[in-house]
Amino acid sequence: MSMKVLYGTSSPKLGVGVADALNTNAFAIEHRVFPDGEQYVRIPTDIKGEDVIFIQSTSSDSAILETFFVLDALQENGAGRITVVIPYFGYGRQDKVFIEGEAVSARTIIRVLSNLSDSLITVDIHAPHVFEWYGDNSMNIIPYRSIADKLSEMGIDFVLSPDKGALHRVKSVADIMDIPFDHLDKTRLSGTDVEMVEKSLDVSGKRVAIVDDIISTGGTIARASEMLKKSGAKDVYAVCTHGLFIGPAIERLKKATDGFMSTDTIESEYSKISVAEEIARTLREKML
Ligand code: R5P
Repeated sequence: MSMKVLYGTSSPKLGVGVADALNTNAFAIEHRVFPDGEQYVRIPTDIKGEDVIFIQSTSSDSAILETFFVLDALQENGAGRITVVIPYFGYGRQDKVFIEGEAVSARTIIRVLSNLSDSLITVDIHAPHVFEWYGDNSMNIIPYRSIADKLSEMGIDFVLSPDKGALHRVKSVADIMDIPFDHLDKTRLSGTDVEMVEKSLDVSGKRVAIVDDIISTGGTIARASEMLKKSGAKDVYAVCTHGLFIGPAIERLKKATDGFMSTDTIESEYSKISVAEEIARTLREKML
């Protein structure tokens, strides 16, 4: 049985990157928007009986709907095994009920995906426990290796987690690079502002990277960077898997850091690290 790689409107470069790494062609989904805003999608190639990999970050409501339409069309057109790769999984932070009566939006999306696909791969999903609603054949990749390679290239000699809960990411990156690491303790004050417990960090004269899963409004990075500078860091960079860069983020990051970047799970001019190789490796080893 052969295999085809298709990608949606939010992951064009990454889709091609994954296909290249798998030594195959990538097909863009045919996609149009009607005057009333409704979407039209069409599978552009014959997939009858073929295993299909569909790559699409669900970083907007329209990308989520597009994904559902494509997967349904794949099933209806007789695709073999359908693997959906969601590099950035939107609504991943609404993974439980925080206040009684709330919708667990991540679960809603996962439940639809589990009806429309056979395997699911995400990258650095905020709360991997949501896979319990998908069932078997779901997997989360954390791009430690791609991030570590980039930081080595940049001559980074210390990595910092802005939050204790995310320490595993920084520890794994630091282990690969064989450099020291530490963490801060963060409390969220509002959607855009955070507070951090004052801490003296052993970073004097160091070139430091703050590594996080998501940069949204940039509040976390701005606060962490302030603390690093106070502790004598020479340079401060911000690196994340998912660069949402909402509202004041870019301005804040430009002011607070010596540079910032994300991976290409959300494609932008700041996507300087590609997760294509790590997705292709997982597909080769675990899914194909
Ligand atoms: C939170 O749990 C995440 O790991 C990020 O730290 C958070 O989303 C960053 O948000 P912001 O850039 O708005 O501070």
